[in-house]
Amino acid sequence: MIVCVCAGVSDREIRASIQAGARTLGDLGRGCRAGVDCGACRDMLRGMLGARCHHRSAEAAATTKTGT
Ligand code: FES
Repeated sequence: MIVCVCAGVSDREIRASIQAGARTLGDLGRGCRAGVDCGACRDMLRGMLGARCHHRSAEAAATTKTGT
């Protein structure tokens, strides 16, 4: 699915950028050009970044609980 129509960037490309270390809208813009034009996709990009951060927080909490 195309998330950023301006740059023609798909959700897969965005997830790949996040997997590769993108943590901010600026990182995504530099990495895959998403969100750098009209800005209509930025709420969705923030949601994808937030979901990744939430996932990482859950991983950290699980690691803390298990001590692994
Ligand atoms: S839709 Fe992403 S910058 Fe326009």
